[in-house]
Amino acid sequence: MAPRKLAAGNWKMNGTLASLAEIDQIRATPAECDVLICPPATLIQAVAATGIATGGQDCHANASGAHTGDIAAAQLRDVGASHVILGHSERRTDHAETDPQVAAKAIAAHQAGLVAAICVGETETQRDSGATLDVISAQLAASVPDCTTAANTVIAYEPVWAIGTGRTPTDAQIAEVHALMRDRLSARFADGADITLLYGGSVKPGNAAEIFAIPHVNGALVGGASLKAADFGPIITAL
Ligand code: G3P
Repeated sequence: MAPRKLAAGNWKMNGTLASLAEIDQIRATPAECDVLICPPATLIQAVAATGIATGGQDCHANASGAHTGDIAAAQLRDVGASHVILGHSERRTDHAETDPQVAAKAIAAHQAGLVAAICVGETETQRDSGATLDVISAQLAASVPDCTTAANTVIAYEPVWAIGTGRTPTDAQIAEVHALMRDRLSARFADGADITLLYGGSVKPGNAAEIFAIPHVNGALVGGASLKAADFGPIITAL
C-alpha cells in the first residue's frame, strides 16, 4: 500500500454558515486524492452534512467531563467528523500544548475512531540554529503515540515560520524533513512507510504542484488558501 494522498484545509477561526457555498464548490472539484475540510467547531456538523470529509481542529484528551469550552473526540465523531488536527503550532503557542499532551489527544482520537492529523514543525530560530531535524525528531517521538497506524494517523510538517507568511522552505529543505519523517516512522511502526505525510505552510495554487513533486510529500495541510474554492480547487487538482 502506498500512502494515501490528501488535500486538507484548515479553516482555523474563519468561516460562518455563509461559507458553506465554498464547500459546495470544493466538493465539485475533480479530485484524484482525498479531500478534507477542518472548519471551526461551529461548522463541523453542517460541513459534514454536505458529504465532504470533515475534521476538528483540536480535541480534549478525556472522553467527557468538566472541561468548559473543550470538545471530546467522540463528540467530533458524533457530528460527522472523521479527522482531527492535533498539535498545530497555533495550539502549541496559544494554549501551551506540549508533545505529551498532543500524544494523549491522539490516543483519544484513535479511541473515538478519528484519524489524528498530528502537526510538527520548527520555529525560525530553531531552523536558523541548525536544529530543525532534531526538533522534528523529538516532536515525532513524543507527539505520535504508539497506537499509530497508517489508517489512523496523518503527519503534517508545518514550519512555524512558513505559516501565513507567504514564505516556504526550499524544495530541498522540505525533502530533507519529509525523508527524516519517513525514516523515523518506518523504523517505529510496521506500516510507517504508508503513513500520509503532508506539508503545510503558505501552500498556494502557484506552488502546490512543485511541492507535491517532492519525495514523501503526500499532500498538504492548507490554511488561508483553503477558504475559497477558487484557491483550494487548483491545489486539489495539482495533487
Ligand atoms: O494548518 C495549516 C496552516 O497552518 C498553514 O496555513 O495559511 O500558511 O496555508 P497557511
